[in-house]
Amino acid sequence: MSFTLFRNPFPSFIEHYDEVSSTNDIAFEILFEKGKKANGGIIVAENQSNGRGRIGRKWVSKMGDSLLLSLIFIPPENYFKEFIPLCAGLSVIRSIKKYREIDAKLKWPNDIVFDGKKLGGILVESKTMGTTPSGFVIGIGLNVKGKKDDFSLELRNKVSTIEEISKRECDKNELLKFLIKELKEIYNFSFSDKMLFMVELKREFIHRKGDRIKINLGNEILEGNFVEINDEGRMVINSKKGKRVIIHGEVESL
Ligand code: BTN
Repeated sequence: MSFTLFRNPFPSFIEHYDEVSSTNDIAFEILFEKGKKANGGIIVAENQSNGRGRIGRKWVSKMGDSLLLSLIFIPPENYFKEFIPLCAGLSVIRSIKKYREIDAKLKWPNDIVFDGKKLGGILVESKTMGTTPSGFVIGIGLNVKGKKDDFSLELRNKVSTIEEISKRECDKNELLKFLIKELKEIYNFSFSDKMLFMVELKREFIHRKGDRIKINLGNEILEGNFVEINDEGRMVINSKKGKRVIIHGEVESL
């Protein structure tokens, strides 16, 4: 039987803003100011003027429509850091399921998707802080209110919102409560039982063995067949050049 010696402090505090540049920026400011005391703090904003996405993208939102938050996390030294973004992904899909019975899935590594449309994304950033252990900021953006037509022409056919899928009005604060509960449980779970955590996580990806995959590695576009998400949370594909284990990348459909 496994048990945990680790209890995360989520949420140690919650700060709510109308508009910030990026909730991740505010979280880092607080982390540098308070050090370890910032662990478990959550920054929420109604809008961002300079929201960031993965691989240098912008994250655009409309005032009040999205759940935009950043969680400050200083993990214990022996915590497997690769799990940080994966835990966030699993927490988000579980909270959406519990809040509105939406069976959202993960597109590797941690895009939140439903029926091929993006519902949200996760950006984990880290900075070292002198003698204090490295701090991580887990940024989560979720399309909650409105309809896909509220998005730019470029995004319209690629995204959806929780209200649009559930056909019900949503309360972002209610969803936040569900999400915080899941974040707390899932991070503890990933620490106490890595194996079971990976088993449960792997079930939630949209990718199936043999799927044709095109993946942007930043400096290279790789094509191949999906093999698995391995126990470190990395994507394994069979490419022309043989088996490749991908640590960072953006999956584009073929
Ligand atoms: C992605 O899919 O590319 C990741 C998007 C992450 C967006 C969130 S919104 C809250 C937090 N603050 C940011 O500037 N980005 C993340």
